[in-house]
Amino acid sequence: MKLKKTILAIAAVIMFVNTALAQQKQTLVIKPNQSVADVQPTMWGVFFEDINMGADGGIYAELIKNRSFEFNKPMMGWKVEQQPFVEGAVTVQNRQAANLPNPRFLRVQLNNATKERLSITNEGFRGMGIKKNLGYDFSLMYRTSANGIKIHIELLNAKNEIIGSTVTNITASTTTWKKQTASFNATATELKAQCRIWFEGTGTIDMDMISLFPEDTWKNRPGGMRADMIQKLADMKPGFIRFPGGCIVEGFDLSQRYQWKKTIGPVEDRQLIINRWNFEFAHRPAPDYFQTFGLGFFEYFQLAEDIGAEALPILNCGMACQFNTAELVPLDELDPYVQDALDLIEFANGDVSTTWGSKRAAMGHPAPFNLKFLGIGNENWGPQYIERLQIFQKAIKEKYPAIKLVTSSGTDPDGARFDLLNTALRNMNVDFIDEHYYRRPEWFLQNARRYDNYPRTGSKIFAGEWAAQSDKTVSVENKNNWLTAITEAAFMTGLERNAGVVHMASYAPLFAHVDGWQWKPDLIWVDNLNAYGTPDYYVQKLFSLNKGTHVVPITLNNDVLAGQDSLYASAVVDKAKNELVIKIVNASGREQVNTLSIEGVKKLASKGTLIVMQENDLSKMNTIDRPQDVAPTETTMDVKGKKFDYKSAPYSFSILRIKLLK
Ligand code: AHR
Repeated sequence: MKLKKTILAIAAVIMFVNTALAQQKQTLVIKPNQSVADVQPTMWGVFFEDINMGADGGIYAELIKNRSFEFNKPMMGWKVEQQPFVEGAVTVQNRQAANLPNPRFLRVQLNNATKERLSITNEGFRGMGIKKNLGYDFSLMYRTSANGIKIHIELLNAKNEIIGSTVTNITASTTTWKKQTASFNATATELKAQCRIWFEGTGTIDMDMISLFPEDTWKNRPGGMRADMIQKLADMKPGFIRFPGGCIVEGFDLSQRYQWKKTIGPVEDRQLIINRWNFEFAHRPAPDYFQTFGLGFFEYFQLAEDIGAEALPILNCGMACQFNTAELVPLDELDPYVQDALDLIEFANGDVSTTWGSKRAAMGHPAPFNLKFLGIGNENWGPQYIERLQIFQKAIKEKYPAIKLVTSSGTDPDGARFDLLNTALRNMNVDFIDEHYYRRPEWFLQNARRYDNYPRTGSKIFAGEWAAQSDKTVSVENKNNWLTAITEAAFMTGLERNAGVVHMASYAPLFAHVDGWQWKPDLIWVDNLNAYGTPDYYVQKLFSLNKGTHVVPITLNNDVLAGQDSLYASAVVDKAKNELVIKIVNASGREQVNTLSIEGVKKLASKGTLIVMQENDLSKMNTIDRPQDVAPTETTMDVKGKKFDYKSAPYSFSILRIKLLK
């Protein structure tokens, strides 16, 4: 009922035009030879944050939750079964100073143990997705007083039946920590499996970093990322990937800020922290949400390289989240934060002989990552932000003048907070201003001209976080439906038209787990086995795959097309392919016919490619079971000369690709 009302309200907004006009066949003039701006290779990118189980339980393919017993409750995610019960046989030990990043471990005392006697079972991240016949790599760190312990590893389906198992022998006692590995295949597919470990033998065994990974990770990297989720990103060919957030950069307080130096090197040395989305929303608590940093800055850089995207790391600027504690680092104590930024640039780009470049090399990447962009602060605001930013800007530009800095304009695209920052940032001539807009669908229609009058010189825009909210920001009722997607498409024609000003844009957030989300809407939804793109995903992907190289004019009565007759349009040429690419959004519920007049070119190919997303029902969504209900279709179209009619279906987004002939 609520959705119906919303859709009616939006429909009223988008059908505001004079119906008499709608009957006329109007001419859209396109001038492929008049390039008005370059389209930056970075134009369409992705925003990644560990929210909604995006990293742990998401793209980081580790299946064991709380593998190092460092969650606030050390046995969270684990179940101990003993038959008979022996007091004190299973304990959590704490090494404290002997291993500061990873102090706790599990001690199990075995006395002629068999299966019935002692097992520990891990529940995974809302279960474990297990695939029939796929190989799984188990590992753990151990030390033991026993000379011979058998460890049995079993995957269990929802009925507690075994769907894959192996046994690994620890033959000799050891007082130093060692790693044991075992691989085996699963015999069945299961969405919510668990992993049970049981023991045979007598003696004490200490265990830590108990881990299980599928073998089909992205690029088959051991301990790597979930391939199906990463493939969804690779398919978009994003121009950049922003990481690691988002609010997790700032942290609830400064102690919980994201510190990149604690996310590199051996995974067992990466100190986990609580994820601020664990407790941020009382209505969506996630008490088991932590950041293990198995996925850290090295892996993010590597991911960016894999998918051909520029890396865009965002660093804490000495301010904790201003929605939370808003703690500030005094200006005269900011040096370590600034040093982190300088060291990060060295980590990414430095020669292997440098301190931080050598750490990158030790992790397997001697060649530089060629970092070009760096964000200072996430959604920070106020004069306190500007004061801190000035210190960062001076230090970074002095040492690394070529690095482009991305700066925050706060949480909203207008209002006093935005105005103060926008003025100050432009006075500082910052490279990029990051704008965020989580707004209702009608905002996206009404703001298709937002950037038409932005200054063409000085700071450029990074439209860093945005998504149409079918209900309201952070509402659990928000949906990813055709209404949100088509209004975003309309707005994106305005971004594309202004590619001379907007150099980067990304929807947010990126991923959400159907059982573990905190924030809606999100671009890509997953369960433990499947990932699907929302209608919004397909819109993003289409803009990215059809971004062209140069913006060219498309006009109606000498005006840009940004809502007249509920039509929105932009055009680019792809000089590498010698193609004209026209994007038209018809945000009305009626078919509209326009004459397309392509001027100033010699000849067009007689066939073109037509890609269309169309859906009469604005509330239509994709789901795990029906992932393609709202998705593009691609056909070949006839091009009859340089002037021809194009019919935009009701509620449609069309892309026409036509070769320009000499
Ligand atoms: O994308 C979700 C959150 O929205 C981000 O963490 C934050 O930057 C914004 O408020």
